[in-house]
Amino acid sequence: MAIYFDEASKLFYLEGKGYSYVFGVNEVGFLEHYYFGRRIGRDDVRYARAFSGRYADAAVPGYTDDIHQCYNHYGAELSCYGVGDNHECSLQIRHPDGSRLSEFFYESYEILGEKPKIAGMPSMTGGETLVVTVKEKYTDIRVRLYYTAYDDASVLARHAEIENGTKGDIDLLRAYSFTVNFPHHDYETMTLEGAWARERHPERRPLHHGTVAIDTKMGASGTLNPFMALLDKNTTEDAGEIFGFNLVYSSSFVLKAQTDNMGKVRVMGGINDFDFSWRLASGECFATPEVVLAYSGEGIGGMSRAYHDAYREHLINPRFVHAKRPVVINNWEATYFDFNNERLMAIMDVVSGSGIDTFVLDDGWFGTRNDDHQALGDWYVNEEKLKGGLKTIIGHCHSLGMKFGLWFEPEMISPNSDLYRAHPDWAIAVPGRESALGRFQMVLDITRPEVRDYVVNAVCSMIRDNEIDYIKWDFNRLLTENWSAALPAEREQEMHHRYALGLYDLCERIIEGNPTVFFEGCAGGGGRFDPALLHYFPQYWTSDDTDAYMRTQVQYGTSIVYPPSTISCHTSICPNHQTGRTTPFATRADIAHFGPTGYELDTTKMTEEEKDAVRGQVDAFREMEDLVVSGDLYRFEDPHTSNYFAVAHVAKDKSRAVITAFRALVRANDENKRIYPRGLDADTVYYVREMDAKLSGATLMQVGIPLPNDPVDFKTFVFHLSKV
Ligand code: GLA
Repeated sequence: MAIYFDEASKLFYLEGKGYSYVFGVNEVGFLEHYYFGRRIGRDDVRYARAFSGRYADAAVPGYTDDIHQCYNHYGAELSCYGVGDNHECSLQIRHPDGSRLSEFFYESYEILGEKPKIAGMPSMTGGETLVVTVKEKYTDIRVRLYYTAYDDASVLARHAEIENGTKGDIDLLRAYSFTVNFPHHDYETMTLEGAWARERHPERRPLHHGTVAIDTKMGASGTLNPFMALLDKNTTEDAGEIFGFNLVYSSSFVLKAQTDNMGKVRVMGGINDFDFSWRLASGECFATPEVVLAYSGEGIGGMSRAYHDAYREHLINPRFVHAKRPVVINNWEATYFDFNNERLMAIMDVVSGSGIDTFVLDDGWFGTRNDDHQALGDWYVNEEKLKGGLKTIIGHCHSLGMKFGLWFEPEMISPNSDLYRAHPDWAIAVPGRESALGRFQMVLDITRPEVRDYVVNAVCSMIRDNEIDYIKWDFNRLLTENWSAALPAEREQEMHHRYALGLYDLCERIIEGNPTVFFEGCAGGGGRFDPALLHYFPQYWTSDDTDAYMRTQVQYGTSIVYPPSTISCHTSICPNHQTGRTTPFATRADIAHFGPTGYELDTTKMTEEEKDAVRGQVDAFREMEDLVVSGDLYRFEDPHTSNYFAVAHVAKDKSRAVITAFRALVRANDENKRIYPRGLDADTVYYVREMDAKLSGATLMQVGIPLPNDPVDFKTFVFHLSKV
């Protein structure tokens, strides 16, 4: 049983794989947090509460004579503003009289065998769920705190629901998903910072008194990932404690770690409350997005595998999560906007029979889309370019035994488009002000049902009228104007959250409505790579940077939270279009086998040697595909800090592994480099194909594997291990 309530002490024990999370109802009826970390017994942990340094702090109203009762000293499960808690709060409500304070006290709890869905938002499934209801002291406002623990995963899913049982409207000025407290601040934070073409680079920095925070304000989770971890200063990839916080959310978010003047730390976050408010009418309920907390006592790698397992088993679209993946040839870097039927067919013909099984037609097939200045929203075929419509190209593709994929950017509209000329008000813009364009385009106001209906119909009718097997769903600019023509003035600050809800509705109707079509997500590379979208998209385009060296860094960073099965990787042409760098063809493919793989180049320009190599590369990926999609990932050389990159994709039963190592630059008279794999079974004897040797897991991990000293920059070394 994952959830236990001790009636006598009024303590809740949440016990997922390897951790305990303990909180309870304290003397005043407030929900106080006591512990989160490695699994402990069901002891009464309140002995460790500290009650010092109270002097100037305000007492809980009604408890003036009890020095112990003070909101500022509690570790709050739900922290509120206005009555003595000086920390960042997780909920701030404006009442009809303009006051903004609240006090919530325990009312009841319930344990549910199955986790309920969150209305309008993707969330984790399965798991035993605790719902604790607290009621506001003076009003009929209730908050339900949801906690879901899993026997098979070291994660805890949380969210809150706020219900307005009063007779009037209230405004939520802040409605975070969670608060968690830590008794000391001997920690660092880890976040995944990034920009276009260099997404998700791990960044560690010490906590300081005050607040360490990350946020986005532009209506998307963005290149700054909705993830923060607290980790011990000595935590490494393999050892030490780390606590992860990952929001299942795709719009403007915030995550904060606040160290107070007593050295305690509070971590919290959710919807960014900057430029946010939500009018909650009488009888209405507001659900926050979910946060997934992870605990690992086995270093950063342990946390990564906790997230990977949890997301694969409880979040990602179950139709495809463990499925064999398409190996694609995509025409974007091959042609950009300059193509016709003949050029596309020639690209396919070269790789027909190579094992590449899906052709993806990228941007430029619709309206007058001959460059990026126009036609987004006009989702009908550009017959100037593609004579005979899509039928010709799809027919050719299918005749070669390949599947057909198509690019869409459903949420966008170009000012120069038929759609804009027909519905200028559908684009997000404030009348009377010139709009900010990003990549020459605007964003559709998908908070409006009629706009969503148009998008659903446009995409679904293309699928219905053509034999489309795969869709790449792109999102190439962030939101600017936080305003909707459809909202009354007092609700305008709801816009960015409503955008997320509109996006999830589109995903439900388009993706769930076409269950046999494989959807890959994309956002100007990997600019909106978050757990909420992974619920719908089993894989996501990781970065527009396809340079093999840069990809070692992006893929390494992305895998800190997200499973390799979601990390879409392509082999592209050299000199690389983003960096100008030339790397060996074999290296590009080996690095692109980190996740679901494909090619993104003009196959007609490949050398004969490269054409011959493709077949073997696809076979190599297929051989390791089950490890990539369903196995465990172990990282043991970090390309952000080392000249090397090394990972192992290991079967769950540890009977097989593929180790991929990479050296960036050759150095004259270099050290004799060994890599030390992780994740093997110490007692299993493995046959290492490339070494023609039989060695135990213990030996391989302790003695290491020497890398040959080939004097070639950007070289990969792959080792296949199988149990003897
Ligand atoms: C984005 C994507 C690319 C490509 C282009 C097309 O940048 O990340 O892969 O689809 O858009 O415009």
